[in-house]
Amino acid sequence: MLDDKIRNDFPFFKNNQLIYLDNAATTQKPQIVIDRMADDYTNHSFNVHRSNYMAAQRTTDAYEKVRTTVSDFIGSPSAKSIVFTKSTTDGINIVANGYFAHQLQPGDEIVVAISEHHSNLLPWQRLTEKCDAHLRYIELNEHGQLDVQQAQKVINDHTKLVAVAAVSNVLGNLNPIEQLAKIAHQHNAEILIDAAQWVPDMPVNISAFNPDWLVFSGHKMLAPTGIGVLYGKPDLLEKIEPTAVGGDMVTSVDRNHFKAQPIPIRLEAGTPNVMGVLGLGAALDYLNTLDMHMVQKRCQFLGQFMYDKLSALDGVVVYGNPIRDTGIVTFNVEGVHAHDVASALDLRGIAVRAGYHCAEPLMQALHTNATVRASAYFYNTQDEISQLVKAVKATKEFFTSYGH
Ligand SMILES: Cc1ncc(COP(=O)(O)O)c(C=O)c1O
Repeated sequence: MLDDKIRNDFPFFKNNQLIYLDNAATTQKPQIVIDRMADDYTNHSFNVHRSNYMAAQRTTDAYEKVRTTVSDFIGSPSAKSIVFTKSTTDGINIVANGYFAHQLQPGDEIVVAISEHHSNLLPWQRLTEKCDAHLRYIELNEHGQLDVQQAQKVINDHTKLVAVAAVSNVLGNLNPIEQLAKIAHQHNAEILIDAAQWVPDMPVNISAFNPDWLVFSGHKMLAPTGIGVLYGKPDLLEKIEPTAVGGDMVTSVDRNHFKAQPIPIRLEAGTPNVMGVLGLGAALDYLNTLDMHMVQKRCQFLGQFMYDKLSALDGVVVYGNPIRDTGIVTFNVEGVHAHDVASALDLRGIAVRAGYHCAEPLMQALHTNATVRASAYFYNTQDEISQLVKAVKATKEFFTSYGH
């Protein structure tokens, strides 16, 4: 198993005392990614797919090599299926506005989970409203997991898309995406996996369940901000009407028409985020050296330890299934607003997130208006989690003694 020494790879922890438990929002960067990006900015700052001198060609080769690295990382059958985007949000909007906006008919249905991040909800809300289609929900069962039996009733022959997160950014559990993919495909519907909290935490092999679309963000897995990935089956990517057109994505242009490049380049108009792609490549190379099975073990261990210890505290409500899959744990302290808890933790040098976590319908389903979310990544330590638990206990005692 990975141990605490792994922190030495991250300069942030040498320079800061903060107990950083907001990794579901974004992650710290290892020195190797910072160094690789500094070297790329210093020595390889060229545009891609344009200039034919050798130095620029090497940058293009490095950029395209990352496409293959990403493809292998998620078990995609072909690098052609990998489109570089800005983020998870960007990828979902490309699929919604470039593809489903041209497919959806009045009366069609899109199914999402009640626990979706707004990024995987708002594009579908807007689109179904525009197209006179319907948005339907998979609810949670009594264990706080997606209810597959109810999903079987909600997904039907009118369903065109099931759009679900593999791992909820609030509950932290792995959703039954393989079963949902099977149900969707039985009804000739497509499935889009929001993998923003999944790909960073465990080995992913999409060939096991053949999703139609999958999206994630680099910054939640050690890479820079502003770079994301859209995976799509090649025949579906071909059908996307590019939401942006311009330089690089064309093979020829005359006064009135243009002919687009093949996928995936036709979906990457303009100068792409070259440095973001190279940084993502460095992050994936680093994660590959750690082995994603080891990353998963460590995240799961820290998440389980946190869940068990917080659940054991009097007056603390912890949400989601007691068997943990990731380092994300969400809770409330009875009688204390989540923001007050987070502020009290901040005063003790612990960074967590409080609020509705871009998942308001889920908050309504959980009958709360806000929660505290502590999210560990593999570089966090058991001792940091113990300090969090101690601080939550002290916070509860402090507010209780004042409130009663
Ligand atoms: C499950 C999930 N989906 C989508 C997003 C949006 O990611 P981004 O802001 O990188 O586009 C997040 C970010 O927190 C997330 O956790």
